Parts: sequence; structure tokens; C-alpha cells
Amino acid sequence: MNAADHVHRDLGTPAPGCDAAASGPVHLTIDGVAVEAPAGTTVLRAALAAGIGIPKLCATDSLAPFGSCRVCLVEIQGRKGTPASCTTPVEAGMVVRTQTETLARVRKGVLELYISDHPLDCLTCAANGDCELQDVAGEVGLRDVRYGFAGANHLGQGKDESNPYFAFDPSKCIVCSRCVRACEEVQGTFALTVTGRGFESTIAASAADLFIDSECVSCGACVQACPTATLIEKTVVENGQPDRVVKTTCAYCGVGCSFKAELKGDQLIRMEPDPDGGANHGHSCVKGRFAWGYATHRDRVLKPQVRERIDEPWREVSWDQAIDFAAQHLRAIAAKYGRHAIGGISSSRCTNEEVFVVQKMVRAAFGNNNIDTCARVCHSPTGYGLKQTFGTSAGTQDFQSVDHADVIMVIGANPTDAHPVFASRLKKRLRQGAQLIVADPRRIDLVRSAHVEARHHLQLRPGTNVALINALAHVAVTEALVDEAFVADRCEHDSFERWRTFIASEEHSPEAAESFTGVPADDVRRAARLYAAARNATIYYGLGVTEHSQGSTMVMGLANLAMATGHIGRDGVGVNPLRGQNNVQGACDMGSFPHEFSGYRHVSDDAVRGSFESQWRVRLDAEPGLRIPNMLSQAIGGEFRGLFVQGEDLAQSDPNTQHVADALRSLDCLVVQDLFHNETSKFAHVFLPGTSFLEKDGTYTNAERRINRVRPVMAPKTGLSEWETVCQIATAMGYPMHYDNAAQIMDEIAALTPTFRGVSFAKLDREGGMQWPVSDATSRGTRILHEDAFVRGKGRFVLTRYVPTDERSNRRYPLLLTTGRILSQYNVGTQTRRTANVTWHARDVLEIHPHDAELRGIADGDAVLLSSRKGSTTLAAQVTDRVTEGVVYTTFHHPGTAANVVTTENSDWATNCPEYKVTAVEVRPTNEPIRQDG
Ligand code: SF4
Ligand code: SF4
Ligand code: SF4
Ligand code: FES
Repeated sequence: MNAADHVHRDLGTPAPGCDAAASGPVHLTIDGVAVEAPAGTTVLRAALAAGIGIPKLCATDSLAPFGSCRVCLVEIQGRKGTPASCTTPVEAGMVVRTQTETLARVRKGVLELYISDHPLDCLTCAANGDCELQDVAGEVGLRDVRYGFAGANHLGQGKDESNPYFAFDPSKCIVCSRCVRACEEVQGTFALTVTGRGFESTIAASAADLFIDSECVSCGACVQACPTATLIEKTVVENGQPDRVVKTTCAYCGVGCSFKAELKGDQLIRMEPDPDGGANHGHSCVKGRFAWGYATHRDRVLKPQVRERIDEPWREVSWDQAIDFAAQHLRAIAAKYGRHAIGGISSSRCTNEEVFVVQKMVRAAFGNNNIDTCARVCHSPTGYGLKQTFGTSAGTQDFQSVDHADVIMVIGANPTDAHPVFASRLKKRLRQGAQLIVADPRRIDLVRSAHVEARHHLQLRPGTNVALINALAHVAVTEALVDEAFVADRCEHDSFERWRTFIASEEHSPEAAESFTGVPADDVRRAARLYAAARNATIYYGLGVTEHSQGSTMVMGLANLAMATGHIGRDGVGVNPLRGQNNVQGACDMGSFPHEFSGYRHVSDDAVRGSFESQWRVRLDAEPGLRIPNMLSQAIGGEFRGLFVQGEDLAQSDPNTQHVADALRSLDCLVVQDLFHNETSKFAHVFLPGTSFLEKDGTYTNAERRINRVRPVMAPKTGLSEWETVCQIATAMGYPMHYDNAAQIMDEIAALTPTFRGVSFAKLDREGGMQWPVSDATSRGTRILHEDAFVRGKGRFVLTRYVPTDERSNRRYPLLLTTGRILSQYNVGTQTRRTANVTWHARDVLEIHPHDAELRGIADGDAVLLSSRKGSTTLAAQVTDRVTEGVVYTTFHHPGTAANVVTTENSDWATNCPEYKVTAVEVRPTNEPIRQDG
């Protein structure tokens, strides 16, 4: 496939908004051709859409019209002069001419001026063949330039190569402001400005800083918008222009951005966000666009390895030997200790197809339901809470729904760091006037950043979410802000009445909650009124909601509030989990939990189990299997002895590291399938090399339930796809599993899962990503859930009594530790630490409030000992009032930091999701060296 096949047709200006377009089509004539365009369309867009060329430079369809370059001029009958077509809306009966002698002369003159101040190095320029200035010069027929370079020019300006991923060469800049506007309109960071006037105008990052020292977050939107080689990817400079394109999906966060992987032969040159991507519409963050170098990093393990004992060195073996080794050891354990002594863990980093075969291997070949997934430690409370209240375990909206929200509540999530592309969309809506409520112990960037300010920041104490949500709901109920009609029509009467009585009780008032949450009651009251009384109010939440001992309770509290106020079932409202990993939603959908088959159907349901038994031709266990924490504790107890782990570094990512290490060390056979050796593989007997997203063929499902294709950009470097490895282990264990390709696995998923019934690779390739449920072959998916009725019929209110966590601060551990992510790094850092993203976050630090720091004699940058009841680690302190007194915060991206050494085994009462967000700790200055990655 040629790169040209995938070139997005840039129509110069954005499509008009729905309101403008609603007034109907406009008919006009352009160059004698009758053209029809929606009202509000510009003449430029109407012409380009009709196949009539008009040159342009400052215009591009991802940005609002600007009208600075004067290249797109046209003549309009009855009007004086030559208006810019990019800023002129179409009008009925308009007669437009795009090619006249006057226009040709003016355009040529404009181009001549640009080129007279531009290096004439087209042949050796990295953008040669991909430069709009070059194209337009050709288009207007510019053959020579009358002005020499003797006068003042910008040709001697030095390059800024401080950013690891892109370069800025001001000598090539035509000051079209596309970069500045992209940073403002698309990314929402406002890092760039045009400094100076007229001839002196230049582009500057922040206050004329180097890019690396500026506010720039390296999203690359400016690079993508730049029509010349002024802002350009270093990979293009080094390797030349790509010549082919494969469309695929980012492998980092749950936003699930679509990309065009641009290659030259087998070499990946650039990841360009796909303008047609349903989740990202042409935008990306620094991780997806730039941090893909890990896929070819020298640390990757490409050959299978085995060893009898974990203190022996690894032996490289063939795939057949490794698969036999794993199968024989797992079979031997099952024979000696019973079939329930083995199990598997699937990964939210892997495709739906890879996850599906792992759970099938466990259920059909291992003969039990001991399958769990890393979603256990992040969003399992979402699954439970939303299923109980709404009837299905998924977010209610697509991302574009936020464009219709008037009030946005962000609880326990930090989208600018963890879900950056969604954050850009959200910030755009805030700049349009929507109001923001942030509930978070920490002053996240959304609370106040360029052109964004939260109306309320409810800075609650870690562990008091449920008290807060009950207080918000109390205000809605006691101040007559309930949407009675919605509740009467759409919700269970009895459960609502019980909940109304419960929540109206004085113990749930903001005044009563204040003693737990620390949030002034008045703030809670005003925030509750803002949310409840809004025309459209929506909730976005993250792991700050789920990773608590009451994670599931809190999810149900959010659902209660949304139902009571009628903010569910249409554009601009809803309850939306921001999923951490690229395929958390998919891993859960695929039946990775020990009690559920794909599509969230209980293993004890005879009819459902029967359908799997007849498709798989095997008897299946009707009893739920073990969750990860149970597997670990039974491993220590000696009952559980063999484990297959697909792409999850349990020993770093799960709480109470020492306990996890003891459990893994106790296993007779640990099989790890991963890209790199990691903390977990230190305890493994078999290492099966995994494939990066660039080698995978399959699908990921993002936080919107959108099933996106992941296409192989290159053949598996290991020689075997991960699903093939798993099928071969199952077969070697005596249960034959075979597919010709990943598409056949999806066909089986569709046959067995009602919400996926209409999904196939062919349809996804034809139609693009689709949001489940996709109920039949004709369905294009479902943007918004619960529109006319809840999936479970009537919405169900659940009583959400606040029970303080057992993890209390005391005199010995007076501070509360909470954790989170930073933009440039990703989870345990396996990938991002192997890219130039370490430029921004070479180590984790501990944020501590100035008052707490002073009390302990800690200065900014000091080494500190962070200790809890479970363990201790050393970090550098960062003294900041982003956290409140009594709270400290760190990220967990570096194994050297080992943040989970201090976290506890406390977990959500319903799902065992660990309580990562609350650990009682003490912080002291130390002379111990800060721990480094090993
Ligand atoms: S850097 Fe590129 S996008 Fe920005 S003003 Fe210069 S030419 Fe235009
Ligand atoms: S990379 Fe992104 S944040 Fe940085 S200047 Fe460009 S658009 Fe702005
Ligand atoms: S927002 Fe998430 S999915 Fe999109 S590019 Fe960034 S990491 Fe990838
Ligand atoms: S493209 Fe219209 S003025 Fe630049």
C-alpha cells in the first residue's frame, strides 16, 4: 500500500458546526461548476471538496481559518478585491473564480516573497516531497525569484534541536502560525507565540526558551501542522521520507488513538495520528507519536528461554522446546496437585484475540477458571459497580460526547498526564465555556492551567471518596435537584426510594462529611448544585476512584448521582471510566475474570457455559476460579503452584512487593510472556518472548468501547505471534487449539459474545473502529449506552455507606501516600524508560507539602526515606503545595523506586482491587542513596 493511498485530503478549513450546517445546503458556482455546500462552509473548503484546487498555506482543516498568507485569494462576482477564500463563507448564488490573471499575479508575488527569504535547498531538505511551500510554489508556477538574498533575511537563524524528537529550524519558517494555533486549538497548551512584528516576526516557545525548557509537552501537533521543514521529526531528518503506511492503534493508554505508521521498507519512520481516528481525530500525545523506539530496543528478548530453577542462568531454546517445557511442567503440577493448582493472568496490553486465547487455554486446557487479568488492580471496581447499577461494565459515552457537556466533573483522574488526547478535547470544551469540578487530593494541572480554571477543586483526603459522593448526592436530594421524571421513567422505584431516604440522612450532609473529607461543606454544596442543575453534566473518573477499599462503592455512588440527576443516556452526560491501559476494556470484555465468560456472563450460567462447551468441545468448570490475590496467597500456602503470566510485571505493579515476591518464588513453574525481562521474570522458569504492538494483528478496545484494529507493521521479531504460542501450549497440554489467523479468533469471539456479534476484521477494515455493542452484521456500533433504557432494564440505586479504610495514619505513620502517573512515562516504565521520554522523568520523586517538609527538615531535592507498615524505599523529595498538608504523592514508573514496596494488601471489598491510593507513611531525611533502576 502506498503512502499516497492514505493521505488525508486536507480541505483547508474545518467542517462547519452542526448548528451552522443545520440551516441547510447552499448552492453556488465556482469556476463555472455548480457546487453545493453546507451553510457555514468556507469557499476554500467548498472548492476543495468539489475537486477545484485553490492554493493555500496558512489554512489546514484541523485549525480555525486564519487568513494570513494571502495565497488562497479568489474573485467573487459583485465584490471588490480578492478576498481570502479560507475566511469567506459560502453564500447562496455566489459566483466565484479561482483562476484569473490577477490572482495568478498576486499569488506568484506572495510566493516570490516567501521564497526570497527561504533557503533554496529543496533537494537536500528533509521535507523534500512533503512540503506545502514547495507544492504551492509549483502550483502557482513560480520559476524564478527577482529578489536576491543580499537584503535582510532570516537564513542565518540557528536551529533548536533541544527536543529529543523534533527539530525547529527558524530559517525555514514562513510565520503562518499553524504551529501556534495547533498548540492552542488542538493541544490546548499555549506554549508557542509569534514574537516581534512584520519582518521581525518569529515563532518562539514560551518566552523565547528552547523547546525543551518551555511549557511544551511534546505532543507534536505543531510539527504535524507545519507546512514546511521548520518543525520536523528527527527520524525524518535522519532517515528520509516514508514510502508506505499501515494504519494501526497506539499501545499505551485507554484513549486508543489511531495512527498511520509511516515506513520506509521495514523501518518505522514516523507515527502520524490519523485524522479519521474515531478516538483522536488526528491528535496524539508524546507517547503514541514519539515513544515507540522500545519496540526495537536492544533489550528485547527474541528467543525463548528456560531454566529448571530460578537461581540457574537462562538457556536459550527453540520454540518447540520452550512450549514442551511449559506444557509438561504445568501438566505435571496439575497431575500431582490437582487441576486447580495452575492458572493464568492475561494482559490489558495485549490484543483482544491474544487475551481471548489465554482465557480459553486456562478454561479449556487447564480445566479451571483460574484466569484473572491486570484489570484486577485497576478497573475491576468499574466492572462491578457499573454492572450493578446500569447493567453493563463499561463507560457510557464516546469521547466526542464531552463537546456537549455544560458541567464536567473529573474525579480521581489526571487526564492531562494519563489520557492526554482526551484532556485536550476536554480543555477545548472548557475554553468554550463549560464548567469544571475537580475532586482530587492533589492540585492536578486541570485545576488551573492556560485558559482553564476549575470552578471547584474539592481537595479531599485520600480514602474519603464515598463520603464526598454521598455528600454531593445529599445536596441533590435535599435541595430538590433530583430529576424526578427521569427517575420515575427509567429507574427502579423501590431502590430509588430506599436510596433517597438513606442519602437524605443528616450523616451524609456536606457538613457531616467535612470531618472526613476535609472539603469545606459550602464548596461541596455549590459543586453539587452546579452538577445537578446543569443541562448536561458528565463524570469522568480514574484510578483515584477505583483503587480503594471502597472502589466499587464509589463507582456505584457516581452512578447513583448521575441517575438521580438524569445525567445519563444522551450526549454530554454519562459516567465514564478513563481506562489506564490500551486494552483494559477489551481484556475485561474477553472473559478474563475468574467468574465470567466474554461479555460479562457468569460461569455458573448453564446456557452460557453450554454455548462455550459446544463451541470448544470440552466440559467447563461452573465454579469461579481464583483471583490474583488468591493465587498469590495460595502460592505461599503451597496449594497453587503453576502460573502463566501474559505481559504483566506483577512483581513491580502489584501491591506489597515482598508478598508478591514470596508468592512467585514459591511456584514450581512460572511462565512469563513479555517483551523484556522484568521483575517478575526473575522468578520465572520459562520466558516466552512477546511481540510489540508493531508486530501484532488484532484489535484493542478503548475506554469508549471502541474496537480498533491493530495491524502488523512488521513480522513478529520472535518468529511467532503470541496467540500462536498460547495455542501451542494448550495443544501440547492435550487440548488442541488452532486458528489460521487472528481474524478467526475474532470470528469465534463474535460467535460466542452477543455484544460482539456483528464484529469481524473485514468489517473493521471496511468501516473503521466500532463501539460495542455491535449486535449484528448491519450494526455500526453504539456511541452512547442506556439511551432509551438501561442495559439491565431499570437503573438500580445501591446504598453506598461510607466505611473508612483500615489504613489509618497514626503517630508513627502520620502522612497518607497516594500515587499516580506522569505524562511522559507509562505504568512501570517498561516501554517509556527505553525511549527518549526519560529526558523528562528520569526518576520518580516524592511530592511533599512545604509545611510537612519543614517539620521534618526536608529541602527540595533531598533524599528521603519513605516508610510504611509494609516496607520502605528512598526517593528524592519535591517540596510543593500541589499536595495538601498530610498527603504525599509519587509516581511508580521506575523499578528502582519500588513504590509498591510500601503499599499494602488492603483491597476493594467487592473485587480485591488493591488500595494503591491510600497508604499511611512517614517520610524522613536519609543519607541512604536514592535507589536507581537495576
Ligand atoms: S514553524 Fe511551521 S507552522 Fe510554525 S509558523 Fe513557521 S512555517 Fe508555520
Ligand atoms: S509539541 Fe505540542 S505542546 Fe509542544 S509546542 Fe508543539 S503543539 Fe505545543
Ligand atoms: S493519548 Fe493515549 S492512546 Fe493517545 S497517543 Fe497518547 S498514549 Fe497513545
Ligand atoms: S490559506 Fe487563506 S489566507 Fe492563507
